[in-house]
Amino acid sequence: MKTALITGGAHRIGQQICRTLHQAGFNLVIHYNSSATAAQNLADELNLSRQNSAKIAQAELSNMDDINRLCTTIDGIDVLVNNASVFYPTPVSSLNQPDYQKIMNTNLMGPLFLSTTLSNKLATNQGCIVNIVDIHADRPLRNHTIYNISKAAIAMMTKTLAKELAPNVRVNGVSPGSILWPENDAELSETQKRSMLDKIALNKQGSANDIANTVLFLAQSNYITGQIIAVDGGRSLNQ
Ligand SMILES: NC(=O)c1ccc[n+]([C@@H]2O[C@H](COP(=O)([O-])OP(=O)(O)OC[C@H]3O[C@@H](n4cnc5c(N)ncnc54)[C@H](OP(=O)(O)O)[C@@H]3O)[C@@H](O)[C@H]2O)c1
Repeated sequence: MKTALITGGAHRIGQQICRTLHQAGFNLVIHYNSSATAAQNLADELNLSRQNSAKIAQAELSNMDDINRLCTTIDGIDVLVNNASVFYPTPVSSLNQPDYQKIMNTNLMGPLFLSTTLSNKLATNQGCIVNIVDIHADRPLRNHTIYNISKAAIAMMTKTLAKELAPNVRVNGVSPGSILWPENDAELSETQKRSMLDKIALNKQGSANDIANTVLFLAQSNYITGQIIAVDGGRSLNQ
């Protein structure tokens, strides 16, 4: 039985990636940071359909000690999905180091050191890494300087690790366009949402399923590495 570790697996896109990989027969390690109850509920639900198929693991991914502790709890692993991230505006006029550290550490340092620390275990199983990037890795989203930089960095991390970890570990990415509206600090007005939808060729948001199915496709592809697939309804076709 193959095992997948999904970071930020308790909610939203990460939760759907967990469900889709589980449905495809993977055992899961569902990583969470603050959402212990949601992660446990998901694991309980999945274990009801297949005994001992899902467990949970906590880690603050902006903290190296936590990253290392998480890695030591992983025995065998076939697929690492770096999904967890933080997203909120950081206007240039008020850039500050705490925001820089929080966003860069969570969105880049966490995925980088999880990937490299687990690379030997992944190699043993001819495994793979799937990074959840963002179409704004290529085209900056206004007012989100640090987030844009963090996603551009994980896009390059995808390609560089694909080279470094070949031939025993494949490394790919999925770049979502607009899938689920941001929450809390990053919430959008109805006008902002309409204006975003107007720029999408298919004129609608995608679903978490669209992302999860692409993750599964990459996890099951034997001859793809170093690629990042945009799942964005054609958003990248427009300026
Ligand atoms: N939503 C979209 O439309 C969209 C568009 C483009 C790209 N993406 C990318 O797709 C992925 C999933 O998006 P999403 O909207 O579903 O994500 P999200 O809800 O914003 O965050 C996913 C999870 O990340 C975890 N997380 C945040 N900071 C963390 C930290 N310091 N350490 C450990 N875990 C942390 C949280 O876990 P806890 O809840 O357990 O704390 C959270 O549930 C992200 O990489 C995002 O950048 C999403």
